[in-house]
Amino acid sequence: MAPEIVLSREEIDEIITKVADELNAMYENKNTIPVLIGVLKGALPFMMDLIKKLKFDLVIDFIQVTSYSGTSSTGVIHLKKDITTDIKNRDVIIVEDIIDTGLTLNYLKQYIQLNYSPRDIKIVCFVDKKPLRKVDLKADVVGITMNQAKFLVGYGFDYNEIGRNIGYVFVPSKKQLEEWDKKLKEN
Ligand code: IMP
Repeated sequence: MAPEIVLSREEIDEIITKVADELNAMYENKNTIPVLIGVLKGALPFMMDLIKKLKFDLVIDFIQVTSYSGTSSTGVIHLKKDITTDIKNRDVIIVEDIIDTGLTLNYLKQYIQLNYSPRDIKIVCFVDKKPLRKVDLKADVVGITMNQAKFLVGYGFDYNEIGRNIGYVFVPSKKQLEEWDKKLKEN
């Protein structure tokens, strides 16, 4: 059975252009150099495509947390890699691939605020997956909202680290997940 494609490459490009337009309108004529903090690893393709369309001066950095295992969130967040840029009193834009329960971004926003005291934190996410939200967290700029709790793979989204390199977003079949499980065991 063919995979259920949720976002084609063309649709992804349209989303990135829309998000970039919104950010350009927010920052283009401001005398500020925002720090874009990409949340590894999922936000990498989105962040790389997005920054090429941004027309204001910016700095990039990355932070890494983990919370997912297989196809669901564990709810326990571990900080794996911290930022290296001094963001005190600066404008920060957190760039995330997806908001699901909201726990990851809730944690990150508080962590960054408490530890580094930036002037402002905005949240940008590629996909806002609404149904399993556990905390009241809203992104400032959203690529696309999804009202179904589908597990996605591709364009940064992974199944146990596999699939991030696929150029479109899809819902993997049970058969696909079994094949990946088998391959993972053998590697
Ligand atoms: P949250 O903490 O539940 O909001 O989850 C955020 C993180 O869970 C994201 O950064 C992703 O790494 C992961 N995640 C959430 N939904 C999916 C999905 O559909 N596919 C792959 N990873 C996901």
